[in-house]
Amino acid sequence: MTESFLDFTGKVVLVTGGASGIGRAVALGFARQGATVVIGDIDERSNDTVRLIEKEGGTGLFVPTDVTLARDVDSLVSTTVDTYGDLHIAFNNAGVFVPPAPLAEQSEEDWDKAIAVDLKGVFLSLKYEIAHMVRAGGGSIINTASIAGLIGDPDMAPYVAAKHGVIGLTRAAAVDYAKAGIRVNALAPGLTRTAMTQPWLDDPVKRDIVMAGPQMGRAADPEEIVGMVLYLASPAASFTTGGVFVVDGGQTAH
Ligand SMILES: NC(=O)c1ccc[n+]([C@@H]2O[C@H](COP(=O)([O-])OP(=O)(O)OC[C@H]3O[C@@H](n4cnc5c(N)ncnc54)[C@H](O)[C@@H]3O)[C@@H](O)[C@H]2O)c1
Repeated sequence: MTESFLDFTGKVVLVTGGASGIGRAVALGFARQGATVVIGDIDERSNDTVRLIEKEGGTGLFVPTDVTLARDVDSLVSTTVDTYGDLHIAFNNAGVFVPPAPLAEQSEEDWDKAIAVDLKGVFLSLKYEIAHMVRAGGGSIINTASIAGLIGDPDMAPYVAAKHGVIGLTRAAAVDYAKAGIRVNALAPGLTRTAMTQPWLDDPVKRDIVMAGPQMGRAADPEEIVGMVLYLASPAASFTTGGVFVVDGGQTAH
């Protein structure tokens, strides 16, 4: 493998949840390596991500998208292909956190929300992306799970269930489409400093609880997640599909 395996010039990349956090960092990471990046998100701050991409000389487009709605995701994929002619790589990353509580105290509404965004959103994204990639002859997809997809993080039952589901969906899609040249892998970040976790990190009591996890004693910066996603999308990972890739500062090693 040459040094240029992270050159994504000419590639069209779809990023859901690219308005902030990990999605924004990954969108910028792909753009810096030459890719055209389309962002699907419900948050208008996606326009700021596009501006950051353009400021660095890249090409980006925001398509307002609620990943829980089939018509929105269908339209996101078709807009991408109609505008840029193809879709080579997808990072299915949009997600939500619901208020922490032991399972018996979790509401049905929060269960439905976590499953709708964190699990159904990934299913719909895969469904429409893969339909295009089969016609195009291949592609690479990375789904954002979490270490909560591997272990039973306390007080997070709906999120834990949804993220375990994302890993199952990843494996199922990888098996169904390996021979079609489509690779599908799951990313499992640990504690990362984003809008999702900032309220925990700002609260002195909760901070001590979450900071007990990563063996490095700190949360990741979103930029520290980017390299794994770009690697999985690249030709360097050409024999890698159906895998789960942990970036967690050693949390699940303990
Ligand atoms: N931050 C962490 O510690 C951590 C750890 C493991 C996994 N994750 C996962 O990483 C992903 C990104 O989270 P983040 O930490 O960057 O948080 P974030 O809140 O900064 O980003 C989440 C993004 O998803 C978007 N989104 C939410 N609902 C949506 C919907 N219905 N349709 C489209 N977009 C929607 C939000 O607008 C936002 O831009 C999530 O899937 C999250 O579960 C985060």
